[in-house]
Amino acid sequence: GLPARVRIHEVGARDGLQNEQGVVPTEVKAEFVRRLADAGLTTVEATSFVHPKWVPQLADAERLFPLVRDLPVALPVLVPNERGLDRALALEATRVAVFASATESFAQANLNRTVDGALAMFEPVVARAKAADVHVRGYLSMCFGDPWEGAVPVAQVVRVCRALLDMGCDELSLGDTIGVATPGHVTALLDALGGAGVPVGALGVHFHDTYGQALANTLAALQRGVTTVDASAGGLGGCPYAKSATGNLATEDLVWMLTGLGIDTGVDLGRLVATSAWMADRLGRPSPSRTVRALSHK
Ligand code: HMG
Ligand code: MG
Repeated sequence: GLPARVRIHEVGARDGLQNEQGVVPTEVKAEFVRRLADAGLTTVEATSFVHPKWVPQLADAERLFPLVRDLPVALPVLVPNERGLDRALALEATRVAVFASATESFAQANLNRTVDGALAMFEPVVARAKAADVHVRGYLSMCFGDPWEGAVPVAQVVRVCRALLDMGCDELSLGDTIGVATPGHVTALLDALGGAGVPVGALGVHFHDTYGQALANTLAALQRGVTTVDASAGGLGGCPYAKSATGNLATEDLVWMLTGLGIDTGVDLGRLVATSAWMADRLGRPSPSRTVRALSHK
């Protein structure tokens, strides 16, 4: 059966804006986050405390975070290492996310480390975050396909998932960074994770929509008991260190499907569409979301 409720983990302000050509002004980002919270999203990933040279689009994290910190929603931030954690803790962040890779190629491209070298970098981050009572999400990229290595073996993904959970991550997000997954692959990975003792309640899914499969993949995951789904308002997104990545599953497309299935999200679709249309104006190009287009041209 399907769940009665799904928690949407909104990544537009982070995964979306990190991939923009131009740098969005800090005040516009803050307004975006506020409007997402107003639309009923309860988890709004705000920014990243990564090296500013690696992701200049989010180099204003120190100025942005205090502008949104007091909103009544969860505001996770990405931290790759202890330096990132220090920056996040200094601003009283209560939720952080580390981001691992299932493949060596992407671990090098995104983190300048081997897969295990990146895990070693995260270990003290997770330990210190937990000691400070901070919630930790563990992202895992390239769970299905990798632009350099092709299809990614399920066992390779399961190994890194186990390592992240054993380290103390509270939840995982399974990333289809380049959007190549199809529903049978999703089911096979979730079954393998279940077989390895990973509780489905600890798993979220993070689909990019490159091949138009993100909604089908999401439905396959819901049928396997997943209740946390990552999405980005208006379908903004991609990843600057994985060239073939396009935007994430659009939050509006997700909400449309879930509403039709009778699954509660708490999101006001009208307000969310208005927010994505507003952001599309700021960015100077239309949203790629079918639902945003259908509902904003009335
Ligand atoms: P590195 O060059 O190996 O860094 O990069 P390092 O550890 O050797 O440090 C070099 C210098 O950087 C030092 O300064 C550090 O202090 C400084 P120096 O002593 O030389 O003056 N430094 C920092 N400064 C500010 N904040 C920091 C920080 N860390 C080091 N946090 C590093 C390693 C991890 C830092 C780098 O590779 C990096 O920042 N990578 C981030 C890449 C990124 O953000 N990618 C996008 C997010 S992942 C994603 O989008 C996928 C996801 O959506 C899921 C999916 O779709 O699959 C999550
Ligand atoms: Mg992503």
